[in-house]
Amino acid sequence: MKTLIRGGAVVTAESTIPADVLIENETIRDVAPDLPANTADRVIEAAGMLLLPGGIDVHTHLDMPFGGTTSSDDFETGTRAAAFGGTTTLIDFAIQAKGTKMRDALDMWWKKADGKACIDYGLHLIVTDLPEAGLEDMDSMVGEGVASFKLFMAYPGVLMVDDATIFKAMSRTAKNGALVCMHAENGGVIDVIVQRALAEGKTAPIYHALTRPATAEAEAVNRAIAMAEMAGAPVYIVHLSSEDALNKVREARDRGLPAFAETCPQYLLLSVDELARPGFEGAKYVFTPPLREKSHLPKLWDGLKHDHLQVVSTDHCPFCFDDQKALGRDDFTKIPNGGPGIENRLQLIYHHGVNQGKISLNRFVEVISTSPARIFGLYPKKGLIAPGSDADIVIWDPNAEHTISAKTHHMRVDYSMFEGFQVTGNARTVLLRGNVIVDKGSFQGRPGGGRYLRRAARGGAWQ
Ligand code: URP
Ligand code: ZN
Ligand code: ZN
Repeated sequence: MKTLIRGGAVVTAESTIPADVLIENETIRDVAPDLPANTADRVIEAAGMLLLPGGIDVHTHLDMPFGGTTSSDDFETGTRAAAFGGTTTLIDFAIQAKGTKMRDALDMWWKKADGKACIDYGLHLIVTDLPEAGLEDMDSMVGEGVASFKLFMAYPGVLMVDDATIFKAMSRTAKNGALVCMHAENGGVIDVIVQRALAEGKTAPIYHALTRPATAEAEAVNRAIAMAEMAGAPVYIVHLSSEDALNKVREARDRGLPAFAETCPQYLLLSVDELARPGFEGAKYVFTPPLREKSHLPKLWDGLKHDHLQVVSTDHCPFCFDDQKALGRDDFTKIPNGGPGIENRLQLIYHHGVNQGKISLNRFVEVISTSPARIFGLYPKKGLIAPGSDADIVIWDPNAEHTISAKTHHMRVDYSMFEGFQVTGNARTVLLRGNVIVDKGSFQGRPGGGRYLRRAARGGAWQ
């Protein structure tokens, strides 16, 4: 089967070039102007459109037990929603239950995705427990294509591990070439501040933010980078939310260390004011790290522009307002932490980044697709429009106008964090390995159409 996408402009991290794209079965065969149409079985017209490599969201939590409930999107509804927004690959987190083997978590998450995923997916592994034998388990995970591990410096008693565990894990990745992804907040200090707030009767959603200072994030980022330096390993900071934390990453990168970080649309576009909404509405914005003061937002955009931050992911972890967020109506610590966003990442970053002149079109492609592919062992199969790459292509209409709303979104959650946001620029047609999975607002993919991706460990090639 040969498909020709004709008349668009191919955008990569480096250039924007008017060119046709010839796809043979699942793979891009040629990218050049004026390719002949007569040998193609199907021609997709793309005049006036941008051709982007499929979006890669490296931070999602589908069907994840957390905070006494389970995130409301599973691998079917979540990947379907992702496809509507132009994301063709995601990397989700399998969680090792304490006292169990990593392999059990991997099997469980494969089962969750099996027959359901509508886009390609990889898995990171969340390490909660690392006895001596666990170090070999890390190597065998790498052998299964799990080339990254998340560790938590927050959530004491639930997911948090101590510095010795983090250092051991990092030392192992220095040898096996995998990457440690760090949830960096000082969980011990935060816990003390939280207990003080509760003792003073402070139970409303806003106290989620007021008990998790940016200094607690910056301290943990600094400590994570220092441990990685001592272990001789790279480190990737997830969901970075504050200027304070950003400064720590920038300083490390200026010293030439392989320190990387992602931020998310919510940290670039929303502020702590959302948590102070009347009644219990602020619960919609309870996720960790919390939203910050407005002054942080331009600093994060600047960090994205200048490569102090390399990736925009979503940390999609949806909980319905009515029956899940409600668990914390009388106590903010019981509000399940997480927010929805898997569908809106490209729309929001294109509109607020490219249209508003904060980042270039090529930088946009880099942070939503190319860098995630490079850092997480998927490049050049993913993250690039070039001969030999998977034909994951978003035909992007730069003039399409769209209003984000829970009434029309495809995520299985009863609110949107970006309700009423008007964006210009949207996915018109989305191809996954040569197959059209979304076209003009209609879903044409299928549950089970997505494949598990065995990711390569990057080894020493980090900067
Ligand atoms: O609040 C959040 N971010 N929930 C998802 C789990 C995590 O820490 O990434
Ligand atoms: Zn986290
Ligand atoms: Zn997360």
